[in-house]
Amino acid sequence: MKNIYSNIYSFNEKVLKKTIKSLNLGNILSLPTETVYGLAGNAYSEKAIKKIFKLKKRPKKNPLIIHFFNLKNLKKDAILNNNFFKLYKKFCPGPITFILKKNERSKICPLATANLDTIAVRFPSHKIIRSILKLIKFPLAMPSANISSNLSPVNAADVYEEFKNKLEIIVEGGKSKIGIESTVVDLTSKPKILRPGIISSKEIKKYLKINFSKAGSKVKSPGMLKKHYSPGIPVRLHGKPKSLNHAYIIFGKKYKSKPNYFNLSKKGDLREAAANLYKIMRKIKNKGYKKIFVCKIPNLGPGIAINDRLERASK
Ligand code: TXA
Ligand code: MG
Repeated sequence: MKNIYSNIYSFNEKVLKKTIKSLNLGNILSLPTETVYGLAGNAYSEKAIKKIFKLKKRPKKNPLIIHFFNLKNLKKDAILNNNFFKLYKKFCPGPITFILKKNERSKICPLATANLDTIAVRFPSHKIIRSILKLIKFPLAMPSANISSNLSPVNAADVYEEFKNKLEIIVEGGKSKIGIESTVVDLTSKPKILRPGIISSKEIKKYLKINFSKAGSKVKSPGMLKKHYSPGIPVRLHGKPKSLNHAYIIFGKKYKSKPNYFNLSKKGDLREAAANLYKIMRKIKNKGYKKIFVCKIPNLGPGIAINDRLERASK
């Protein structure tokens, strides 16, 4: 069924069929995941991958995450190792992405992996994306559904705001529960977190006996652009609003409520704060504020991922 936006569809059997037909034709559409909404296309199709890069205005050197239904489908495309199996067993399907060596026989379009000999793989848990992955005969390349360097979308209307009618189908899947992108962990050698997420390094360390590489050694994520997750207005990590057209992002119960104050989590829950981060930043921008100030967010657990995104948004 269609709603006020001509290309946003609520999910049902008919839309499932329409979605699969469209993906089979090499088209790009937007699908919900538990982290953020994605821009999905057939990872084996050069035509589809080219369209994704073009739509997002994404630099060619920034590789895409390839989404699979299960292990059986992955073996043809990636070389699996013990650390991968340990984390897969514990966290999948879920908000974590693994960097693995690409299988030489893989049919994944080389453009999707930016011609690297590695591949980023993820098994999303949202039931809509799983029902689609189960029925198609190829994995989905799926970056976040935003123009490169913008905020990631956490509901169907956010995706519409980014791409308007350039997408034939945006599937409505409700607000993304996690609200920030998956944790990216490199497992090609000594495990290393390339992008922090809701699943923290502390959590991952419980299952890998091996220590993580030290931060500061050369980061291998080609697309980890310094400026990213930008709401389109300046973000300042220190200081407080100086006028009413400055918004203040706050966290916890010690703040009074004011019209230009936006609380990530009144009860001081970092998971809730992460889930609200992009939603609140987009809302602030759309209300016409000229600048965003942010209070200090505790740098532990999901706080590490929140601070990573805020840091990049402030560049
Ligand atoms: O939660 C998510 O991961 C979402 C949803 C839609 O699944 N997707 C997402 O994709 O965040 P994207 O394209 O916005 O971010 C992919 C990240 C980039 O930082 C990219 O550089 C990194 O994964 N990446 C992809 N392939 C890589 C590789 N072979 N080696 C290192 N980093 C890689
Ligand atoms: Mg992204």
